[in-house]
Amino acid sequence: MPASLLAVSDHDDFDKEMHGADWAAVYERQAERADLVARFCDLLELEAGDHVLEIGCGPGHTSVQLAERVAPGLVYAVDRQPDALAYLQSEAEGDTDRVRPVVGDAESLPVRFDEPTPTLVAFVLHHVDDPARAVESIASSIPESSPLLVVEYDPDAAGEVGPPLDHRLAPAKCREWLSAAGFAVESEVDLGEEKYALLARR
Ligand SMILES: C[S@@+](CC[C@H](N)C(=O)[O-])C[C@H]1O[C@@H](n2cnc3c(N)ncnc32)[C@H](O)[C@@H]1O
Repeated sequence: MPASLLAVSDHDDFDKEMHGADWAAVYERQAERADLVARFCDLLELEAGDHVLEIGCGPGHTSVQLAERVAPGLVYAVDRQPDALAYLQSEAEGDTDRVRPVVGDAESLPVRFDEPTPTLVAFVLHHVDDPARAVESIASSIPESSPLLVVEYDPDAAGEVGPPLDHRLAPAKCREWLSAAGFAVESEVDLGEEKYALLARR
Protein backbone atom coordinates (compact mmCIF):
# COMPACT_ATOMS: atom_id res chain seq x y z
CA MET A 1 0.00 0.00 0.00
CA PRO A 2 1.40 3.49 -0.82
CA ALA A 3 2.57 5.44 2.21
CA SER A 4 -0.09 8.13 1.67
CA LEU A 5 -2.89 5.55 1.90
CA LEU A 6 -1.34 4.07 5.00
CA ALA A 7 -1.30 7.52 6.59
CA VAL A 8 -4.99 8.01 5.80
CA SER A 9 -5.88 4.67 7.31
CA ASP A 10 -3.82 5.52 10.45
CA HIS A 11 -5.99 8.61 10.83
CA ASP A 12 -9.03 6.40 11.42
CA ASP A 13 -7.45 5.72 14.80
CA PHE A 14 -7.46 9.39 15.84
CA ASP A 15 -8.20 9.35 19.56
CA LYS A 16 -9.88 12.70 20.30
CA GLU A 17 -10.48 11.92 23.97
CA MET A 18 -7.03 10.32 24.48
CA HIS A 19 -8.47 8.07 27.19
CA GLY A 20 -6.39 5.12 26.03
CA ALA A 21 -3.30 7.12 25.14
CA ASP A 22 0.16 5.58 25.24
CA TRP A 23 1.78 8.36 27.27
CA ALA A 24 5.29 7.03 26.68
CA ALA A 25 4.69 7.42 22.93
CA VAL A 26 3.26 10.93 23.40
CA TYR A 27 6.32 11.81 25.55
CA GLU A 28 8.58 10.54 22.78
CA ARG A 29 6.80 12.77 20.24
CA GLN A 30 7.15 15.73 22.58
CA ALA A 31 10.88 15.01 22.90
CA GLU A 32 11.21 14.87 19.10
CA ARG A 33 9.80 18.38 18.76
CA ALA A 34 11.71 19.84 21.71
CA ASP A 35 13.23 22.55 19.46
CA LEU A 36 9.75 23.94 18.92
CA VAL A 37 9.36 24.58 22.65
CA ALA A 38 12.26 27.04 22.54
CA ARG A 39 10.20 28.98 19.99
CA PHE A 40 7.14 28.85 22.26
CA CYS A 41 9.28 30.27 25.08
CA ASP A 42 10.56 33.06 22.85
CA LEU A 43 7.09 33.95 21.57
CA LEU A 44 5.78 34.07 25.14
CA GLU A 45 8.90 36.08 26.12
CA LEU A 46 9.41 33.83 29.13
CA GLU A 47 11.88 35.06 31.70
CA ALA A 48 13.51 33.61 34.78
CA GLY A 49 11.05 33.71 37.67
CA ASP A 50 7.88 33.71 35.54
CA HIS A 51 5.06 31.39 36.50
CA VAL A 52 3.60 29.62 33.47
CA LEU A 53 0.26 27.93 32.87
CA GLU A 54 0.36 24.99 30.45
CA ILE A 55 -3.01 23.55 29.49
CA GLY A 56 -3.23 20.01 28.16
CA CYS A 57 0.36 19.26 29.12
CA GLY A 58 0.19 15.50 28.50
CA PRO A 59 3.12 13.48 29.88
CA GLY A 60 5.24 16.53 30.59
CA HIS A 61 8.27 16.78 28.35
CA THR A 62 7.26 20.31 27.31
CA SER A 63 6.36 21.21 30.91
CA VAL A 64 9.88 20.39 32.11
CA GLN A 65 11.39 22.42 29.26
CA LEU A 66 9.22 25.38 30.25
CA ALA A 67 10.24 24.95 33.91
CA GLU A 68 13.90 24.95 32.94
CA ARG A 69 13.40 28.19 31.01
CA VAL A 70 11.61 30.04 33.87
CA ALA A 71 13.62 28.68 36.82
CA PRO A 72 13.11 29.50 39.67
CA GLY A 73 9.52 30.09 38.45
CA LEU A 74 6.89 27.37 38.38
CA VAL A 75 4.87 25.65 35.67
CA TYR A 76 1.25 24.79 36.45
CA ALA A 77 0.65 21.81 34.19
CA VAL A 78 -3.04 21.06 33.66
CA ASP A 79 -4.45 17.96 32.01
CA ARG A 80 -7.78 16.18 32.27
CA GLN A 81 -6.07 12.77 32.14
CA PRO A 82 -4.61 11.82 35.54
CA ASP A 83 -2.51 9.13 33.82
CA ALA A 84 -0.69 11.77 31.80
CA LEU A 85 0.21 13.66 34.98
CA ALA A 86 1.24 10.44 36.70
CA TYR A 87 3.62 9.84 33.81
CA LEU A 88 4.98 13.37 34.23
CA GLN A 89 5.62 12.77 37.93
CA SER A 90 7.20 9.34 37.66
CA GLU A 91 8.85 9.16 34.23
CA ALA A 92 9.60 12.67 32.95
CA GLU A 93 13.30 13.47 32.88
CA GLY A 94 14.84 16.68 34.18
CA ASP A 95 13.78 19.11 36.87
CA THR A 96 10.18 18.12 37.60
CA ASP A 97 10.21 19.81 41.04
CA ARG A 98 8.99 23.10 39.67
CA VAL A 99 6.21 21.51 37.59
CA ARG A 100 2.95 21.51 39.54
CA PRO A 101 0.55 18.95 38.05
CA VAL A 102 -3.13 19.92 38.16
CA VAL A 103 -5.91 17.55 37.11
CA GLY A 104 -8.53 19.70 35.41
CA ASP A 105 -10.56 20.36 32.31
CA ALA A 106 -9.65 23.21 30.00
CA GLU A 107 -13.35 24.07 29.79
CA SER A 108 -13.57 24.78 33.52
CA LEU A 109 -10.03 25.42 34.70
CA PRO A 110 -9.51 24.89 38.44
CA VAL A 111 -6.78 27.58 38.68
CA ARG A 112 -6.82 31.39 38.96
CA PHE A 113 -3.80 33.67 38.77
CA ASP A 114 -3.44 37.21 40.16
CA GLU A 115 -0.23 38.09 38.33
CA PRO A 116 0.25 38.09 34.53
CA THR A 117 0.77 34.44 33.62
CA PRO A 118 2.11 33.37 30.24
CA THR A 119 -0.07 30.50 29.03
CA LEU A 120 0.56 27.74 26.50
CA VAL A 121 -2.13 25.61 24.85
CA ALA A 122 -0.26 23.48 22.33
CA PHE A 123 -1.93 20.81 20.19
CA VAL A 124 -4.86 20.68 22.62
CA LEU A 125 -7.86 22.65 21.33
CA HIS A 126 -8.58 20.09 18.58
CA HIS A 127 -9.02 17.52 21.37
CA VAL A 128 -11.38 19.69 23.41
CA ASP A 129 -15.16 19.20 23.15
CA ASP A 130 -16.01 22.90 23.24
CA PRO A 131 -12.93 24.98 22.34
CA ALA A 132 -14.84 28.29 22.59
CA ARG A 133 -15.67 27.47 26.19
CA ALA A 134 -12.08 26.48 26.88
CA VAL A 135 -10.82 29.83 25.59
CA GLU A 136 -13.40 31.63 27.78
CA SER A 137 -12.22 29.59 30.76
CA ILE A 138 -8.62 30.55 30.04
CA ALA A 139 -9.67 34.21 29.87
CA SER A 140 -11.19 34.00 33.34
CA SER A 141 -8.16 32.17 34.80
CA ILE A 142 -5.41 34.58 33.81
CA PRO A 143 -5.35 38.34 34.33
CA GLU A 144 -5.32 40.81 31.48
CA SER A 145 -1.96 41.30 29.79
CA SER A 146 -1.03 37.62 30.20
CA PRO A 147 0.25 36.36 26.85
CA LEU A 148 -1.55 33.29 25.51
CA LEU A 149 0.01 31.07 22.84
CA VAL A 150 -2.32 28.73 20.96
CA VAL A 151 -0.56 26.17 18.77
CA GLU A 152 -2.43 23.98 16.29
CA TYR A 153 -2.11 22.06 13.04
CA ASP A 154 -3.24 23.84 9.88
CA PRO A 155 -6.20 22.21 8.09
CA ASP A 156 -5.01 23.75 4.80
CA ALA A 157 -1.71 21.84 4.95
CA ALA A 158 -0.91 18.54 3.25
CA GLY A 159 -1.87 16.27 6.15
CA GLU A 160 1.40 14.35 6.10
CA VAL A 161 2.00 14.81 9.84
CA GLY A 162 -0.29 15.38 12.79
CA PRO A 163 -4.03 14.80 13.21
CA PRO A 164 -6.35 14.16 10.26
CA LEU A 165 -7.27 17.28 8.31
CA ASP A 166 -10.93 17.14 9.31
CA HIS A 167 -10.01 17.26 13.02
CA ARG A 168 -7.82 20.37 12.67
CA LEU A 169 -8.77 23.92 13.57
CA ALA A 170 -8.30 26.75 11.13
CA PRO A 171 -6.51 29.87 12.40
CA ALA A 172 -9.63 31.90 11.53
CA LYS A 173 -11.76 29.68 13.80
CA CYS A 174 -9.31 30.01 16.70
CA ARG A 175 -9.24 33.78 16.13
CA GLU A 176 -13.06 33.87 16.43
CA TRP A 177 -12.97 32.07 19.79
CA LEU A 178 -10.12 34.27 21.03
CA SER A 179 -11.90 37.43 19.99
CA ALA A 180 -15.18 36.32 21.63
CA ALA A 181 -13.26 35.81 24.89
CA GLY A 182 -11.73 39.29 24.67
CA PHE A 183 -8.28 38.37 23.31
CA ALA A 184 -6.58 40.34 20.55
CA VAL A 185 -4.26 38.33 18.32
CA GLU A 186 -0.87 40.06 18.18
CA SER A 187 0.76 37.69 15.73
CA GLU A 188 0.23 34.55 13.70
CA VAL A 189 3.37 32.50 13.18
CA ASP A 190 4.00 29.70 10.68
CA LEU A 191 5.95 27.14 12.70
CA GLY A 192 6.62 24.89 9.71
CA GLU A 193 5.65 21.22 9.36
CA GLU A 194 1.93 22.13 9.12
CA LYS A 195 1.87 23.91 12.48
CA TYR A 196 0.95 27.49 13.35
CA ALA A 197 0.78 29.61 16.49
CA LEU A 198 -1.42 32.51 17.50
CA LEU A 199 -0.07 34.85 20.14
CA ALA A 200 -2.92 36.67 21.88
CA ARG A 201 -3.52 38.92 24.87
CA ARG A 202 -6.50 40.64 26.49
C1 LIG B 1 -1.97 15.88 21.66
S1 LIG B 1 -1.75 16.01 23.40
C2 LIG B 1 -0.69 17.45 23.44
C3 LIG B 1 0.16 17.45 24.68
C4 LIG B 1 1.10 18.66 24.82
N1 LIG B 1 0.36 19.90 24.93
C5 LIG B 1 2.11 18.75 23.70
O1 LIG B 1 2.39 19.85 23.23
O2 LIG B 1 2.64 17.72 23.31
C6 LIG B 1 -3.29 16.69 23.96
C7 LIG B 1 -3.37 16.76 25.47
O3 LIG B 1 -4.48 17.58 25.82
C8 LIG B 1 -5.20 16.96 26.86
N2 LIG B 1 -6.58 17.44 26.82
C9 LIG B 1 -7.49 17.24 25.83
N3 LIG B 1 -8.64 17.83 26.13
C10 LIG B 1 -8.48 18.42 27.34
C11 LIG B 1 -9.31 19.19 28.17
N4 LIG B 1 -10.59 19.47 27.83
N5 LIG B 1 -8.82 19.65 29.33
C12 LIG B 1 -7.53 19.37 29.71
N6 LIG B 1 -6.69 18.64 28.96
C13 LIG B 1 -7.15 18.17 27.78
C14 LIG B 1 -5.06 15.47 26.58
O4 LIG B 1 -5.33 14.69 27.73
C15 LIG B 1 -3.61 15.40 26.12
O5 LIG B 1 -2.73 15.23 27.19
